[in-house]
Amino acid sequence: MHKVNKWGISSWRGFPIKQAPTYPNQEQLLKVEEELKSYPPLIFAKEVDLLKTKLSKVNEEKLFILQGGDCAESFSRFSGSKIRDFYKLFLQMSLILGFSSGMEIVKIGRIAGQFAKPRSEELECKDGLELPSFRGDMINSVEFSFASREHNPQRMLTAYHQSASTLNLLRAFCKGGMADLHLIQAYNLEFVKHNPMGQKYQNLTQEISKALEFMESCGVQTGQVPYFSEFFTSHEALVLNYEEALCRTDSLSQKFYDCSSHFLWIGERTLQSSAHIEFIRGINNPKGLKISAQTPLSYLIDVLDKINPNNQKGEVALIVRMGERGIEKALPKLIEKIKEEGREVVFLNDPMHGNTIKEGEIKTRYFCSIFSEINKFFEICHSYGVKPAGLHLEMTSEDVTECIGGTITEENLKCNYLSQCDPRLNASQSLELAFLVADLLKKYAQ
Ligand code: PEP
Ligand code: CO
Repeated sequence: MHKVNKWGISSWRGFPIKQAPTYPNQEQLLKVEEELKSYPPLIFAKEVDLLKTKLSKVNEEKLFILQGGDCAESFSRFSGSKIRDFYKLFLQMSLILGFSSGMEIVKIGRIAGQFAKPRSEELECKDGLELPSFRGDMINSVEFSFASREHNPQRMLTAYHQSASTLNLLRAFCKGGMADLHLIQAYNLEFVKHNPMGQKYQNLTQEISKALEFMESCGVQTGQVPYFSEFFTSHEALVLNYEEALCRTDSLSQKFYDCSSHFLWIGERTLQSSAHIEFIRGINNPKGLKISAQTPLSYLIDVLDKINPNNQKGEVALIVRMGERGIEKALPKLIEKIKEEGREVVFLNDPMHGNTIKEGEIKTRYFCSIFSEINKFFEICHSYGVKPAGLHLEMTSEDVTECIGGTITEENLKCNYLSQCDPRLNASQSLELAFLVADLLKKYAQ
C-alpha cells in the first residue's frame, strides 16, 4: 500500500499547482484569506448531503441531472432580474425534461461562485500589446489594461458577496413560491413567448395544467411540490485560496465541507494539477471531474483512488467533454475502463467544451454539434449499459447571439455577444435543446 499524507484544508499548498493566480501582494492576499475565513458559510452541510444522496441514486432510479449556467459569472452584469430569469429558464427546462420522461430533474446551477477561469494561453495579445489573459472576475478584470489584468485578491471578496446575494435570491425563489406548478405558464420570457420554442412550451404547460386540474379534482395537493423547487449550486474549484477559506467543519458530523458551493468540479486543465486533487480529496462535497478525449485513463483511476478511496456512490461525477468528433472513440474506452475497475461514478456530458471553434476572431459553438455530442453520449451509454445521467451546459436566459443555430448565423454572431469567456446557448436554444433531450430520455427509457 502506498503512503497517504494527512489531509488538511491547507495541505494542497505542499503540492505542484497549475492555473493558480499570481498575486503580487502576498500580505494583501493573507488579509483577504483571513477575512473570508471569518465570513459565514454560503451553504449548509445537510444540503450537500441531500445532493450526494440524489447522486448516489441517479444510476438506478428515475433521476436526471441538469447542470448549467454562465461560462463565467460577471461582476458588471449582476442583477436580480438576471438571476430570476435564469431560475425561470432552469425550471422551464426541468419541466420539459421531467414531464415527458417522468424523471425527477436534479437542478444544479453553474452559479453563485463560477467566477474563475482556467486559460490555455498565459498572455493575450492585442495591437502589439501583450497582457496577462483574463481569468474570470474573481481573479482579474476583462478590460485590456495592465492594471485591470493584474491578479487582485480583493476580487475574491466581491465574488463571495455576489455569491451570497445570488444564493439569497435563489433560496427566496425556491421557498417563496416561484416554483409553483400553477405559475409555469408565466415562466416564458418576453422574447421567447412568440417564437416556436415559446409556443411549444406553452402547449406543454397547457397539458400539465390539465393534469394538475385532474389531480386536484382527486384531492391531491399540487402547486408547491418539494423536488421541483429544489436547487443546488456548483462551480469549478480553481482558486484554492478561496475554496480553502470557505471550508468549514460541520458541527454535527465533524466532517469538512467546502461551503462555497454544493458541488465542485475540477476542470480539464487542472485534472493533472496535484494541488487541486489534494484539495478536493478531503472535502465532503460531491465532485465532478472534466474528462476530455485525451485524459489518460490510468491517471484517472489514480485520481479516483485518491478522491474516492472507498468507492462510494454519489461521490464523483465524470463530466465527459470529448467533442462530437472525439466522443465516439474515447467514451467507450472510458466506460470499459471504469467497468473493468468496478468504479462507482456518475456519467454526465458537457457537450460545450469539446465543440468550441473560432469564427474569425469570435469563439462560438454550433448548436448541431452540441446536440450531436449529446446524441452520441446517450447512444454510447445505452449500448455499453451505463446510465447517461445528466447534462452540463453553458446557457443563459439572455437573448444572446453566441452559439450558431436557429436564427443565429455566422453573420450575426456579433449582434449581442455578451459572454466574457465561452459562448452560451440563449433561452430559445436552451428550450430547444431541452425538447430534443426529452425525446432522447423517452427513447432510451427502460
Ligand atoms: C468550463 O467548464 O468553463 C471549462 C473551462 O471547462 P473544461 O475544464 O472542461 O475545459
Ligand atoms: Co466554459
